[in-house]
This record gives sequence, structure tokens and C-alpha cells, in this order.
Amino acid sequence: MFDPVEKLKEFVRHPSVSTDSKYREGMRGAQEFVSGLLRSLEFVVEVVKTDLHPIILAQRAGEPNWPHVIIYGHYDVQPPDPLNLWQTPPFEPVERDGRLWGRGAADNKGPLMAHITAVGRLLEKNPRLPLRISFLIEGEEETGSPSFLPFLARHRHRLKADLVFLSDTGLPREDQPVVTCGLRGLVLCDVEATGAKSDLHSGLHGGVLRNPIQALAELCASLHMPDGRVNLPGFYDDVLEVEPWEREELRQLGQKEEAYREFLGIPAFHVPPGYTPFEAIRFLPTLEFNGIGGGYQGEGTKTVIPSKAFVKISCRLVPNQTPAKIRAVLSAAIRDRMPHDVSFRIIDQHEGTPYTVVPPDRSNTPKGQAPLLAKAFRAVDAAAVEVFGRRPLYLREGGSVPIIADIKRVLGIDSILLGLSLPEDNLHAPNESFNLRVMQRGSAVSEKVLSALACG
Ligand code: BES
Ligand code: MN
Repeated sequence: MFDPVEKLKEFVRHPSVSTDSKYREGMRGAQEFVSGLLRSLEFVVEVVKTDLHPIILAQRAGEPNWPHVIIYGHYDVQPPDPLNLWQTPPFEPVERDGRLWGRGAADNKGPLMAHITAVGRLLEKNPRLPLRISFLIEGEEETGSPSFLPFLARHRHRLKADLVFLSDTGLPREDQPVVTCGLRGLVLCDVEATGAKSDLHSGLHGGVLRNPIQALAELCASLHMPDGRVNLPGFYDDVLEVEPWEREELRQLGQKEEAYREFLGIPAFHVPPGYTPFEAIRFLPTLEFNGIGGGYQGEGTKTVIPSKAFVKISCRLVPNQTPAKIRAVLSAAIRDRMPHDVSFRIIDQHEGTPYTVVPPDRSNTPKGQAPLLAKAFRAVDAAAVEVFGRRPLYLREGGSVPIIADIKRVLGIDSILLGLSLPEDNLHAPNESFNLRVMQRGSAVSEKVLSALACG
């Protein structure tokens, strides 16, 4: 068997930033690394071309009557910028304080390596294990997975499976395992406002036209109520009511508001009425401004009325909101509320449907769930108790992994998400790292679960 930590270092060394074409080499390196590793475990590996970055589909030969598990992961990472804030270079992995530091160590290379390690160990002990396993590892997750839906549709016949198993979500502490039972969805767009046909001297022309920055500021200010709720008609209509057991699971986490406030470094929370901050993250939809710009950004001053300004908006959706409806109400509000004396353009970006899966003992009617799913939930429970010393909490998550809902819609398969990234792992931020004890525990849980799912 390979050494998982050494393999993870090798993986992190490939700078696989999917959003930036200057990292094309790194993308290919990471793809070839994973493909090679899976071939060494005797998987039949196919590298499926897409318009952008290929998808790795690796399957283990087996009998058609064996249970079939798909393990999902992504080999792409977020850009490392801003580079000057890294203590060690992002693509030169360093092991320190029981962690591996580097871009992608936690999102998603380390968690993926935990599952690959589990499969390697399991098959080494039992080469004839009666379980079909397919790895489905994409390279576009951090850009909204544009190639994934067409891929699913085209290869659905080879992807008939009982469940998807993955780790691309979080846990609160290294001794508290979590099974993620819900993910938020997303709707993103940009609004670009244009005033005069070129930048203007603000003395010669100031006072006769609306500045496009002001127009966007007025729009943005209209999108929330003073109490923090999103101010779009019908926005909350389809929000799934929170079940008492969900609030109770969250309460058992025992998080302290004051500690969280300090962790964020904010003077006060701003949360819609009726929810704690911890509930708001997991149970409520949001509208956020991810970027705003226009006009002079350099040192000193410049007396200018810019011709153009832009804002980047994203909504996080919760079950059972749909991207189509939320995009429609958002676009309608933008068109209604933008002042008529500037022109503007809405540029739709990607989107993702929210997801929930109800654990077997929490619902009387787990409609349409595969029988093996309940077995897998119970296997995760038992494995977590053995490995972490505690049963997992079932929590919805604030982040998004949009392909999970796509898989459910296209293939009808539910996912079990074993959270493996910690709050201090700095996902998407400088100084990302992955806790190697969590990696070890994660792969031990994965190994036990896969072994329990094998037939017989
Ligand atoms: N793995 C993350 C999502 C995540 C992290 C969920 C931690 C829960 C806990 C994933 O790679 C990610 O960052 N997703 C993006 C969406 C994507 C479409 C760009 C997100 O949530 O912003
Ligand atoms: Mn991820």
C-alpha cells in the first residue's frame, strides 16, 4: 500500500486551479496523478473529455448483482491568491503540527485521498470483495461543474448505483463526526451598469446624470430588509420548514455564539429574526454581494464619473427553493428597481439546486430511497462510534456541492456525505491545511462503511 500522506503531498504539488487557463499543466498533472493512482489499485480508468477539464471515471470489475457505490471527489482547487498571505508556498506542501499545508489539501484532495486510501486498504485485505466501486472525480467543481450534467446524461447507463459516498463538506471539531444531510444551492449573476458613454470629468459634468455606482448602490440597498431578511417577493415561499430533530442535532453541537462572533471578528451578528446564527447558516437562504467595482481604484484621488460599474450577486438556496424561481424573482427585482436613467445588463452565472437526504430513523416516509442507503447510514454510525468515539451528528451545511442534487435528479441516487474539513482548514483562503488525524479517521470510517456494504 502507498503512504497516504506522501501521496497527498504529491497530489497537492500539482497546481490544479480550474478557473485559470495558466494552470492547464497543473490540471493535467493532477488528473494524471489520480488516474495513475487508481490504475495502481487495478481500477479501469477512463478519462472522459469535456469542453474544459476531463472527468475521471474509474471502475472496478465486478458482478452485476454486487452493490454499487460511487465515490465522488474533485481534483481541482481554488486559486491561491492572495499569494503574499501564505506562510509557505501554496503548491509546496509542508507537514507541520499534524497538518498538511497547501492549496487543495482540505478542499478536496485530502478528503478524496482518505477514500482512495480506504479502498486501497480494503482491496489489499480482500481482493475479491463483492462490491462494485466507481470513482467519479471531476476537475470543474470550483467553477460550477459546467460539464457534469451533460456527462451524467451521457453515461447514465454506467452509473446505475445504490449510493454516492463522498467527503466534500465539514465537521465542527476533530472528535465530532458529521454526516451532511443537506446542502445549500446557488444562483449567481453580475449586474453591469453603464452611465455616460465614457468616463467624465466630475466637475465639468457632475450634477446632470446618475452615477452608475450610485445606481447599483441603490439597487443593492433595496435587496434586504433592515432586519436582515432578503427583500424579494416570494423569496421565502418554498423554504423547507426546519424539523425539530434538526434543531436538536445542531443544539448538540454546543457551539457558543460569543466564540463564533470572535472567530469572525465582527462587532455583532445580523441574523433574520427567529434563528440563531448557527441555524441561519444551515437553514436559511441568503443574498450576498461577492464583489463590487467601478471608478477609480488607485492611490490618491481622481475626480471622475465612471462610465461603468458592476456588482456580483449570489443567492444561497435551501431546500425546496429552485434556482429557476429564485433567478426569476431576482432578475425581475433588478429590472424593476434599477433607476431608468442608467442602462444595465444582467449577466447570468452558474447555479445549483439545494439538496437534502433524510437519515433513515428521522422520517416515517423516506420516499424513494434505495434500501442500501439506510444500511450505509447505519454503517457510518457504527464506524464513527468505533473510530471517533461518538455517533455522527446529522447536519445540513451552508456550503454547496451542486452536483449532488444533479446526481439525485438525473440518476435518482442519494449521497452520504462524511464531513472531513474543519473550520480552521481555511478552505478557499490563504494557508489552507488538512488535519492528518481527520484524514486517518476518515479513511478508517470509509473502509468500514465500504466493507459493510459489500454483499453477504
Ligand atoms: N467543498 C466545498 C463546499 C463545502 C465546503 C461545503 C465546506 C461544506 C463545507 C466546495 O468545493 C465549494 O467550495 N463549493 C462552492 C460552490 C461551487 C459551485 C463554486 C461554494 O460552496 O461556494
Ligand atoms: Mn470542494
